[in-house]
Amino acid sequence: MDTSQGGTEICSLDDLRADIPLTDKYIYLNSCTFGPVPRSVQDCMADALRAENEEIIAIRGKEAGVRFYARAEQARHTLADLLGVSAGDVAWTYNTTTATRLAIMSLDWQAGDKLAVSDVEHGSTMRAAVGLKQSRGVESTFIPTTEAGATRYAGAEFFLEQLDSSLTPEHRLLVVSHVSNIDGRRLPVAEAARIARARGVMTLVDGAQSIGIFPVDVREVGAAFYSGSVHKWLSGPPGIGFLVISAEGRQGFNPFNLPVPWDASGDPNYSHVTAAALSELGTANYALRIGAGVCVETAQRIGLETIEEHSRALTAQLREGLECMPGVRVASPTDWELSSSVTTIQLDGGTPERCQQLVERLLDDFRIVVKYRPEICGVRIGVAGFNTAEEIEQFLSAAVHLIPQI
Ligand SMILES: Cc1ncc(COP(=O)(O)O)c(C=O)c1O
Repeated sequence: MDTSQGGTEICSLDDLRADIPLTDKYIYLNSCTFGPVPRSVQDCMADALRAENEEIIAIRGKEAGVRFYARAEQARHTLADLLGVSAGDVAWTYNTTTATRLAIMSLDWQAGDKLAVSDVEHGSTMRAAVGLKQSRGVESTFIPTTEAGATRYAGAEFFLEQLDSSLTPEHRLLVVSHVSNIDGRRLPVAEAARIARARGVMTLVDGAQSIGIFPVDVREVGAAFYSGSVHKWLSGPPGIGFLVISAEGRQGFNPFNLPVPWDASGDPNYSHVTAAALSELGTANYALRIGAGVCVETAQRIGLETIEEHSRALTAQLREGLECMPGVRVASPTDWELSSSVTTIQLDGGTPERCQQLVERLLDDFRIVVKYRPEICGVRIGVAGFNTAEEIEQFLSAAVHLIPQI
């Protein structure tokens, strides 16, 4: 940990773990829901909030005020850098759900239009599909990612074929997760976006479970929209997410009914306006943005490749142990390239009650935090950069011990 600048600067995975006091008390395997915010980032946000309220708001136009707000704005550039896009393409939102909704609601949906979504989208997207049907008469097409009856995701081919044969001129938007929150399957988002574009359909990629685990070049993915948050794998604060809006996505983007044209250029198209100007209306929480920026900087300082390598090794260790565990079936794909840090298990003869009991007993008896996944009646285990091989061993011993008892 580098302390030469006065504050603490996390430079390695060991530093990161040392700065997360939660790891002293729990084996935390649930960053798929919330990543714990490091102590130094909590302190940094508290300092920013205090500085803002005890001085900065009084001197907004003076040098210190300008520096404070420039620092908050710098977070957007840091995130853009992580994602491989320009800062003008990045809008802050409240979380992934609101980012995804913003993109969906930017389209001028008409009755007869259709939405396409993969069959493993997050509940918030599935609810958006229901809402669109109710409010605009928009039907949704659910694109299967595996053959009927398949027990595990087996690769991109089937999904891409289904997509190819399902998209019609009525479809306007495809929503697809980069990594599924259900079993961690990794979907071929770049190829999917290419197929959709060839049919005149825009794509929104939900990156809630991908950003912070492996490097993602959003521009290379090539979708009109890419949504995500910082509070999962980036161990950032909750209440701040993002939507990357490409120039294609910004063309008719006006979910808040801003005046048209935007400026004296008279251009009715918004692609020359920044994503922030089109989406972030009103006063922001600058301390939160500063905290988000520090978390993104931390991930970059440690290196996404280092985080991926570590998570991949621990995930392999976990899956190896689970594959030979009696009474357990690994529902996630084995190959890293087809999956991620998320592993979901199912129990032989498993019921929701047994799975929930396992989650409870792991917490109560072993201080191990995992999550029940109702969609496939499973238990989800998320391995983050701050986890260790010893923790994986402890999880495996606890599971072997508990499963016959529940
Ligand atoms: C794939 C996916 N999409 C969207 C969400 C919703 O995220 P948020 O809580 O940031 O709105 C989640 C949260 O678990 C998720 O896993």
